[in-house]
Amino acid sequence: MAPYAYFQKKFVPLEEAKVGVMTHAFNYGTGAFEGIRGNWNAEENLLYIFRAKEHFERLTRSCRVLKIDLPYTIDELVKITVDLMAMNGYTEDVYIRPLAYKSSEVVGVRLHDLESDLLIFTTPFGAYLDVAKGARCGTSSWRRVDDNCIPARAKVTGSYINSALAKTEAHDNGFDEAIVLTHDGHVSEGSGENVFMVEKGRLVTPPSHDNILVGITRDTVIELARNELGIETVERSIDRTELYIADEVLMTGTAAHVTPITEIDHRKIGSGTPGSLSTKLQKLYFDVVQGKNKKYIDWCIPITPSLVKV
Ligand SMILES: Cc1ncc(COP(=O)(O)O)c(C=O)c1O
Repeated sequence: MAPYAYFQKKFVPLEEAKVGVMTHAFNYGTGAFEGIRGNWNAEENLLYIFRAKEHFERLTRSCRVLKIDLPYTIDELVKITVDLMAMNGYTEDVYIRPLAYKSSEVVGVRLHDLESDLLIFTTPFGAYLDVAKGARCGTSSWRRVDDNCIPARAKVTGSYINSALAKTEAHDNGFDEAIVLTHDGHVSEGSGENVFMVEKGRLVTPPSHDNILVGITRDTVIELARNELGIETVERSIDRTELYIADEVLMTGTAAHVTPITEIDHRKIGSGTPGSLSTKLQKLYFDVVQGKNKKYIDWCIPITPSLVKV
């Protein structure tokens, strides 16, 4: 069954959701987007959309930064997503991509006097990094975009050139993922993930002013560590070599879930295998995102495949 997309205020077959070559966002990167996961729970035969509300709240904030008109409430955005997912009837893990963008077909770099539109498409999406084995990382020679260049706290399409440069450099150097530093040399984040280290039984993660995208998975892990394990997270700047000597390092993100980092710049982290706290957090996290931990069920919206309408 061909999936549907939401495009120009309607549900249309994905192949009909097309933009012209002059579209402003295509030429200048003037779009704000989200990545939301739908996680398949085979025992319950349900797909759970994870923290859709928080993702749309962040999309709304990104749109404010880019002066993109997004004339929908958070509830309306969630409802469109739920309807789309019911139509598409997936029985596997899915990625949901809302994209609010400058849709005018006009030449001229600016943010003002432009039309905007909202697009949402969905696609099956399995593992991004190897969550069981963990990932090997390299510190990038590229620096993270600064708040006064392209604000990292807004999830802006154009800024992903920064992530793409870092990811491909890491790949070409034989690593799974990049660790990107700020201009003053502190750890910022991965190409599409936030970073945590474990130090003396506590979690430490860079603060929002170190040019991170303030991740929803980051927030989820902070909450789960505090509520379920009694472990607090300290938000402070982290030096590159602090990661080398940390007890554990892990990355979090909608695509990457909770991925232990086993090696950085050819140095083993801990024993060089996934650490015990990372593994505990990962297990807690997967139970929560698949709707198995009913204490956190308010973060999940169930979609029944049998609701398929088309
Ligand atoms: C650059 C960057 N940092 C961090 C994250 C993690 O954010 P989240 O957990 O909300 O997916 C992402 C993923 O969206 C990202 O692209």
